[in-house]
Amino acid sequence: MIIGIDIGYNATKLFDGKTKTIFASASGTVNKSRFSLTTKEDFIVKIPGDGEWMIGETAVEESRIIARREDRKWITSPEYYRLFIGALSKVKDNIVSIVTGLPVAFYDDKDELEQILKAGEHIFSANGVDRKVTVDKCLVIPQPFGTVACLALDENGNISDKDLASGNVGIIDIGGKTTNILTVSKLSEVARQTVSINTGGWDIARDVKNQLNKIYPAMEEQRDHEIADIVRNKSITLFGNKINIAEIVDSVVFPLSQQVIAEINQMWGSSAGLSKIVITGGGAYFVAPYIMQKYSHAIMVDDPVFSNVIGYYKLGARTNA
Ligand SMILES: Nc1ncnc2c1ncn2[C@@H]1O[C@H](COP(=O)(O)OP(=O)(O)OP(=O)(O)O)[C@@H](O)[C@H]1O
Ligand SMILES: [Mg+2]
Repeated sequence: MIIGIDIGYNATKLFDGKTKTIFASASGTVNKSRFSLTTKEDFIVKIPGDGEWMIGETAVEESRIIARREDRKWITSPEYYRLFIGALSKVKDNIVSIVTGLPVAFYDDKDELEQILKAGEHIFSANGVDRKVTVDKCLVIPQPFGTVACLALDENGNISDKDLASGNVGIIDIGGKTTNILTVSKLSEVARQTVSINTGGWDIARDVKNQLNKIYPAMEEQRDHEIADIVRNKSITLFGNKINIAEIVDSVVFPLSQQVIAEINQMWGSSAGLSKIVITGGGAYFVAPYIMQKYSHAIMVDDPVFSNVIGYYKLGARTNA
């Protein structure tokens, strides 16, 4: 079975050709009362030598200690491996072919990651069920490259968009913590020239939420995806009144969008040599409108959070064919 796995700083995503799965990229100590009556499904993995861990949203909500790392050593850390095992636990098959990605800046660590993921059998238990999973193939690509594959290939991995597959495409991946800008020329080449900015969707959502909380305390309960809608619509409805909040949204999103636009200028000039500028990653929900205003050939992908991982799957289908 082919499976795309995208372990982002914000969320871990997987796609098996049919089902999309997402969970928060967090692991934490198991503190849940055995007798609690929560209706939420457990997500606990046990790894020999590392112990028992809550994964995803349950870790965020219930663990006393949460492990979340953002440094380069992340991929060789137990925290990363737990998320990988968490992802494997969502797959029914015990033999899998994996395609995954690394942040562009860390792509040199590709071989090391392949070693970790391919190392024999992965033995673990998930919610009390013992598993042994073998990774028979593993391909590691630069993360934003997944989005190009997502757009250029069909679900069997055949080229469905020739222009995109053979041309120069600019990719802007606005993740949780980082924004990556790179050029992909033809499906198989990634230009060395890349830029990484240390801001992402998570910073934007947090800043907008903080600004709104100060003025409208009723906003406190809004969830992240609701904040995203608010940012997009630049308005909120409180007690039946629609309130325009364009000024607040602009004050937070505008600086990042200008930073991205400045980098685009620096890297691509007028960007006339690119057939498209593709904006992906969850932060696209916030920043894409500003970039699209400026560049007529810029598009936001339909499903920015999942398009990298869908592309991983399609590449898997292509290389396994
Ligand atoms: N449905 C949504 N609507 C709007 N914004 C969203 C949505 N889902 C996620 N986001 C925003 O996008 C950000 C995360 O995007 P994404 O899942 O692409 O990050 P990631 O891949 O985990 O991070 P990175 O690529 O930096 O490792 C979140 O911080 C959130 O603010
Ligand atoms: Mg990402």
